[in-house]
Amino acid sequence: MTLPVPNTSNIFKVTAPHVKYTDTHIISDYVYHNAIVSKNDVEGTFEVLPTETKYQFKTELKVPKVGLMMVGWGGNNGSTLTASIVANRNNISWRTKEGIKSPNYFGSVVQSSTLKLGVDTKGSDVYIPFSQILPMVHPNDLVLGGWDISSFNLAQAMERAQVLDYDLQRQVIPMLQELNPLPSIYYPDFIAANQYDRADNLIPGDNKKDHLEHIRNDIRQFKAVNQLDKVIVVWTANTERYSEIIPGVNDTAENILKAVEQSHPEIAPSTIFALACILEKTPFINGSPQNTFVPGCIELAERERVYIAGDDFKSGQTKVKSVLVDFLVNAGIKPIGITSYNHLGNNDGKNLSAPQQFRSKEISKSNVVDDMVAANQILYKSGEHPDHVVVIKYVPAVGDSKRALDEYVSEIFMGGKNTISLYNTCEDSLLASPLILDLAILAELMTRIEYRVKDMEEFEPFDAVLSILSFMLKAPLVPPGTPVVNALSKQRMAMENFFRACVGLAPQNEMLLEHKAP
Ligand code: NAI
Repeated sequence: MTLPVPNTSNIFKVTAPHVKYTDTHIISDYVYHNAIVSKNDVEGTFEVLPTETKYQFKTELKVPKVGLMMVGWGGNNGSTLTASIVANRNNISWRTKEGIKSPNYFGSVVQSSTLKLGVDTKGSDVYIPFSQILPMVHPNDLVLGGWDISSFNLAQAMERAQVLDYDLQRQVIPMLQELNPLPSIYYPDFIAANQYDRADNLIPGDNKKDHLEHIRNDIRQFKAVNQLDKVIVVWTANTERYSEIIPGVNDTAENILKAVEQSHPEIAPSTIFALACILEKTPFINGSPQNTFVPGCIELAERERVYIAGDDFKSGQTKVKSVLVDFLVNAGIKPIGITSYNHLGNNDGKNLSAPQQFRSKEISKSNVVDDMVAANQILYKSGEHPDHVVVIKYVPAVGDSKRALDEYVSEIFMGGKNTISLYNTCEDSLLASPLILDLAILAELMTRIEYRVKDMEEFEPFDAVLSILSFMLKAPLVPPGTPVVNALSKQRMAMENFFRACVGLAPQNEMLLEHKAP
């Protein structure tokens, strides 16, 4: 049973002594159950100590007025998302050869998935829209803006992208023509040389400190002009090459700010944006694979207590991989070879046809099975890993309609082999755009949740690195020294159970004891 989406976020109330509703907040007392395991190396046995930690979560109920600024606004993702929000906001339908289509937010976890609240008195599941678990901003209410090195307005950018149907493009053009990306930072060394032609909308000069201040000022202006309470910035610009990590340059917060003042060549445009956002107390999310978050940048975010998340939208092939390998390994089947071919013909593909930018993507795509493999020492001996190869080719003829061909070879019972081949074809930007929404909406929500544990007197924000957003990210950034989780089901569980905890509900356990031992 799924309840209809109401106009208000007060779709349910938890009635329990450990949950308190005030005019402004929900405060929940929550007992976090864990188990600390110690290994006896001599006997090869484990001792397990169940633990209970008492947390308090406080969530601010008022949904603020939020601005979403995209870096690379005039790209395929930026223009597709903008046109789609405009279509949703104005309820614009369009004709295709298959009939009339209406706008939706399919592909957004927040807008188009549900979660189980509990069971009714007959034992049937009751689901609510994900967006109703806590008050969240609606995509239609986001104020959109951003930067691009290309001067195309959003209508021209949408036409250039060739993603949306013509009859829809035709209707939204008048509303998109007014939207112009702000000039941006272009350091040619960081993106492919083949992007040079479109770089005609640039912040003048080559002083990186001036650039940083310029971006900070852009954020402040956007906030003031649109009377926003908060701004979230998402990098959906071209994939950059990796930055070298150089001691004394980008290894600490202090050094990186100094390096910006000295216009050090190893500071990437995306890192300038990240630093500007952190200094403006604005959450910043990196949707591309490069190492924007060099150690100095992460340290600054931790110091300023500003949320950052990344890297690289997890939209298609990797999403499937993080489901399929998890399934195989958990079924006791041993993947030994994973080969992934992609070809695409959009501007992202063109940029990735340059070796250094491809390398960033290759790195981001290759670690995705590590945690699943490491979790099963029956199948994989220490250090053993499946062969894993990723190929990306630029084929202009297929445009935004990316092709992904994957082969999974696994060892099965008694020396047998199982080969699974997948072929996926889909508009890349229609998969990625809803992820931008989820990332921005959930990052904003996280700015309204605080916690208290043990002897903390005041509520405090979480670690600056928002690993809770991993579901949407291909190479999840986690707080330094903490484990990376790639398995999609675990990532979803983490999000769902965390938000449940904030309203005082226990984690989902799927035991269904009410049906087995009533
Ligand atoms: P795109 O190439 O169409 O758009 C990128 C835009 O960024 C372009 O308009 C370009 O002019 C602009 N740009 C480049 N450098 C800039 C800078 N320094 N400042 C401001 N603007 C800048 O690419 P698309 O398809 O929109 O993808 C965007 C990014 O998202 C790429 O890095 C891609 O790898 C990543 N991504 C995309 C996925 C998908 O579309 N399914 C999945 C995962 C990641």
